Amino acid sequence: MEIIIQPTQQAATEVAARTIARLLCGKPNAVLGLATGSTPLLLYQTLIAMKLDWSHVTTFNLDEYIGLPRDHAQSYHSFMWNNLFKHVNIGKENVHIPDGNAQDIPGFCREYEEQISAAGGIDLQVLGIGTDGHIGFNEPSSSLASRTRIKTLTRQTCMDNARFFGSEESVPRHVITMGIGTIMEARQNLLLAFGQNKACAIAQAVEGPITSINPASILQMHPVVKVILDELAAGNLTRSDYYRWVYKSKPDWQSV
Ligand code: GLP
Repeated sequence: MEIIIQPTQQAATEVAARTIARLLCGKPNAVLGLATGSTPLLLYQTLIAMKLDWSHVTTFNLDEYIGLPRDHAQSYHSFMWNNLFKHVNIGKENVHIPDGNAQDIPGFCREYEEQISAAGGIDLQVLGIGTDGHIGFNEPSSSLASRTRIKTLTRQTCMDNARFFGSEESVPRHVITMGIGTIMEARQNLLLAFGQNKACAIAQAVEGPITSINPASILQMHPVVKVILDELAAGNLTRSDYYRWVYKSKPDWQSV
């Protein structure tokens, strides 16, 4: 794992944006895995401002609420179109977001996995982290080998996301999410976290044991992961001096 600690969310986001821009310049038909939530918002704004060519890019989103109309303001469809896709030259046919209104959800999930494989797999997956350590919507105790499927949110996640829905009761309980096994097949993972409320989950994910109780901890087993943090999210790490030292000592050819 490469742990990159930056002074601010903005500086951390720029590292992530440069990593993605470099990928798209070298591989214009790259397959990106994308995330929602407040964490990647600035990243999407930064990518839009970079005016990259998205015409050959394919995307797969991590997750979606079940039963929420696609055009609901808080659906992840709305989120992605409003915050990224409508501002870049991506083809509608190249965008994939789980369909939380599919008639046959298990069948849809199988098809989603097949579509990822048919696209050649995900080159780079953007991830946020829940305060309980979830990635995508893989809540604590999710199988570390799981594939795209239905999940039930924890009470904690419903409380965390109540800010988007006005009340905890209005947060849908069920979701479709890529599995942890699916995420682990991406060729590269970029985990972003900002703010003090992520510091515990990050410390457990990066320095704790690998356990389904902190699903993000499985990323310790992935060969190409950048964990990009602001100072607050890095606040509970015990080896942050070393991570800063590594980043500062990078040779030019490795730097982002
Ligand atoms: C959400 C999403 C995750 C996201 C996480 C953190 O519920 N399903 O993909 O990473 O929880 O959200 P935020 O970035 O708003 O803190």
